[in-house]
Amino acid sequence: MNRLALDRLEVGRGDVVLEVGFGGGDLLARLLRVTDGEVVGVDLSEAMVARARRRFRCEPRLRLHLGSVDALPLGDGAVDRACSVNNVYFWPDPAAAMRELARVLKPGGRLALCFEPPEELRKWPGHRFGFRMHDEPAVRSMMEAAGFVGIRRAEGRGRMPDRFLCLTGEREGSEAGA
Ligand SMILES: C[S@@+](CC[C@H](N)C(=O)[O-])C[C@H]1O[C@@H](n2cnc3c(N)ncnc32)[C@H](O)[C@@H]1O
Repeated sequence: MNRLALDRLEVGRGDVVLEVGFGGGDLLARLLRVTDGEVVGVDLSEAMVARARRRFRCEPRLRLHLGSVDALPLGDGAVDRACSVNNVYFWPDPAAAMRELARVLKPGGRLALCFEPPEELRKWPGHRFGFRMHDEPAVRSMMEAAGFVGIRRAEGRGRMPDRFLCLTGEREGSEAGA
């Protein structure tokens, strides 16, 4: 899923990139390789932030924050790219979260959200505990309502999950018109 997110983000060499809910930090490591700009990670879990701080101790371009998607510790238009993988199920108010992601993205900046559709999540018994399932049309319409345009889908295949989705969209507006 991380590979699909990275592919769909199309990170530019100097881009500032945000990942929300980085967990073990595998996508953070990949992001640091594709940009020379800053990489910002925000995660709700103290344990995950502490673990990532140990893992990336010597990385000056990485900023890690303990926080939630619904109150990102970033200014308006601070990042060129934003992504989140396997996360939307945990967000208390996903529509508000997407507005917050739109706020921190530059106009024209891209968001990539990767998630398992409900029929995949249901194959795993753990889905009953703390997961809120959202299907593709629901995620798409929340992105649109938050001001993302040009929404595109990509599908990935693997083992556990067999199938997963990545929706990308650009924050409305262009750099020139911002
Ligand atoms: C299932 S893990 C996914 C980790 C990683 N993205 C991956 O795919 O391997 C979900 C992560 O999201 C974090 N998380 C859950 N709710 C969050 C929120 N509201 N804001 C930011 N991070 C959150 C959790 O602490 C956890 O690290």
